[in-house]
Amino acid sequence: MCKKEMSPKENFNVIVNKTEIVAAVLPIQEHWLPLSNLDLLLPPLDVGVIFCYLNPIIINNLEFNSIIKILKTSLSETLVSYYAFSGEIVQNSSGEPEILCNNSGVYFVEAFADVDLKEINFYNPDESIEGKFVPKIKHGVLGVQVTQLKCGGIIVGCTFDHRVADAYSANLFLVSWSELAQSKPLSQLPSFRRSPLFPRHPGYYDGSVDGLYVPIPIVPLRKLETLNPDDQVISRIYYVTGDKIGHIQSLANCCDRKGAKRYQRSKLESFSAFLWKTIACGVNVETSNFKNFRFGIVVDGRTRLMSSNVDDDDNRGKWVKGYFGNVLSIPFGEKKIDELKAKSLDWTANAVHEFLDIAKTEEHFLGLIDWVEAHRPKPSMAKIYVTDDDGPTVVVSSGQHFSFKMVNFGWGDPIFWSYHFPWAGKSGYVMPMPSPKGNGDWIVYMHLLKWQMEIIEASAFHVFEPVTANYLNLI
Ligand SMILES: *[C@@H]1O[C@H](CO)[C@@H](O)[C@H](O)[C@H]1NC(C)=O
Ligand SMILES: *[C@@H]1O[C@H](CO)[C@@H](O)[C@H](O)[C@H]1NC(C)=O
Repeated sequence: MCKKEMSPKENFNVIVNKTEIVAAVLPIQEHWLPLSNLDLLLPPLDVGVIFCYLNPIIINNLEFNSIIKILKTSLSETLVSYYAFSGEIVQNSSGEPEILCNNSGVYFVEAFADVDLKEINFYNPDESIEGKFVPKIKHGVLGVQVTQLKCGGIIVGCTFDHRVADAYSANLFLVSWSELAQSKPLSQLPSFRRSPLFPRHPGYYDGSVDGLYVPIPIVPLRKLETLNPDDQVISRIYYVTGDKIGHIQSLANCCDRKGAKRYQRSKLESFSAFLWKTIACGVNVETSNFKNFRFGIVVDGRTRLMSSNVDDDDNRGKWVKGYFGNVLSIPFGEKKIDELKAKSLDWTANAVHEFLDIAKTEEHFLGLIDWVEAHRPKPSMAKIYVTDDDGPTVVVSSGQHFSFKMVNFGWGDPIFWSYHFPWAGKSGYVMPMPSPKGNGDWIVYMHLLKWQMEIIEASAFHVFEPVTANYLNLI
């Protein structure tokens, strides 16, 4: 029965009806696609994302079988341009990972869940999403799961290998896939041309890069660290209204002694400062032995690399928009917990602004590429992820500019979406995304140590509200 009112359902079953491999519809000339120096900074990690749709079965009178057929046909068409997603990562003779583009295909799962969309407790993705709506990649570098829900809803979940694509690239792919599902031309073609990310000869880099990246002895396995039980990591999804963000921003912008505004801080800077300070304020320095707190923000270098490095003006814009791969840097700051507690939010926002400044230039990214080149074939990683036990670390990413709303396969805009990245490391990961309402509200996915989440829920519950069907206009 599909009732109007329903409370969250903790236990429901997801039954996998079929698994298969979907390959590009046209033959692909087998070839090797090198990872760029910026891709090589990623350890083997899988990232998940889900998109939820209300009742395509009732609204468009589509049978689930037709939905699957549309999705599979358009996926095999999309893979013609996005052939890297149809390949495999293989270690080459120099011991580095490289993509073998042999059209080995995408792992594709069809499933059914005996739950209605509005009963799913998205607030606790460890229970509701993990192992249920995003597939484990059993083959290749991309997995897709399409799940039919009890009352006609559909969830499309994808898992991709982060070494092949960052979230921006995955979003490009999803938009292209949905365009082809609607028989529309592609609004953007992907580019796998690595030359704009080639190192310079001779290479050079600023000393600041040494502070942000480290060579690591061996590539960590899927599970980065084995955590002790006290260090349990959990995921939660919150709804944060635009007025709350606006208020935090006004505090972060706050005034000098005469009451005049000093600086304008972005929403992301202000939000990050708020999170940094909130968690710090809950840390008991005596019992935890923590002195410092590292906080980082993922920066997309596409627009920074726009100014040169590509042959002509016309190609620049296209390269920036279409480049498929990782173009990320993770600058971070480290502050004493006592200082974060004592100082005001605008001081913290200033600290965020300062560390972000390092990664704001094209030279930073070119330097980073040269830095990687100087250390290869030894693998390297962002330093913030290589935790010592000196204190907590949290990284904020930003999905604010992704066109989630465009992931419409022909049966309406998604009514909910979220990234799902429950990696095993001790560093926290936070992904703010726009709300499907498009009104300036945010959906915030957080993957943090349990004690950090408890601090947030105890002291910032007025900002972070558990996402419910109500917020998604499902009831
Ligand atoms: C190995 O892979 C790296 C990164 O994908 C690539 O740059 C390099 O050229 C490859 N080396 C060989 C010998 O194929
Ligand atoms: C592609 O390459 C992988 C790795 O070598 C191999 O396991 C797979 O069978 C190949 N697939 C095809 C279709 O050639």
